[in-house]
Amino acid sequence: MLNELNSPARNKHKIIVANWKMNGSEKLLKDFSTFVPTNSNDIIICPPFTLLEAAKAILPNFVKIGAQNCSEEDEGAFTGEISASMLQERGVSHVIIGHSERRTLFNETDAAIFKKVGSVVKNKLTPIICIGETLLEKKAKKTLQVLEKQIEGSVTKASVHTQLIVAYEPIWAIGTGLIPNESEIRDTHSHIKEKLKKYFNTDIPVLYGGSANAENCTKIISIENVDGLLVGGASLKKHDFVTICNC
Ligand code: PGA
Repeated sequence: MLNELNSPARNKHKIIVANWKMNGSEKLLKDFSTFVPTNSNDIIICPPFTLLEAAKAILPNFVKIGAQNCSEEDEGAFTGEISASMLQERGVSHVIIGHSERRTLFNETDAAIFKKVGSVVKNKLTPIICIGETLLEKKAKKTLQVLEKQIEGSVTKASVHTQLIVAYEPIWAIGTGLIPNESEIRDTHSHIKEKLKKYFNTDIPVLYGGSANAENCTKIISIENVDGLLVGGASLKKHDFVTICNC
């Protein structure tokens, strides 16, 4: 399945990831249980840890289940942490790693993120590694420099054969209703792809995230080198999320 997601044959399909953050309930999952997109994009829903098992049981089979974080350790005295092997046991297939909220609110460094990626890959799950610049960095024209540093620190030390997904999420676009313009997204994605090509022998999918919604999804997803979307707020509304999945 992991190979399938990265293989050229799947290139026509987009990858749509729902990041529910610290939101959602069994009631919302039940709402999503009747959810039927009309095309064959890959759909991954990432609810909070406590809903993972229910998500696996309630959501339709074509939906893959992802977690939003995991420990960099396998097991041990790490109160409150959840390891990648525990997620694997729950039927999770993907794990979001290094979301900007983790990087800024929980002080996750590139080095810690890379350790988490290692643990996720070791447990045969697919990491969705988030990178992105702040507004200050964008204004200082440092976007590409920041992304390169994040890619080098948190992505590229993985083996060339590693199956992974990268999500470009400008921090200033997350939850703000602001998005980069089309040419900014195109240029940034092609830069990220070029950089990743130097390290990996498969095409690494690069998703866009940050205020993607039912209105702008078709436009964003048709930009060259955008392989899919990582959706926060709009993924909590079933009608909007179905529209996004049908992009
Ligand atoms: P948003 O969040 O779609 O609500 O901007 C995206 C994310 O944080 O992954």
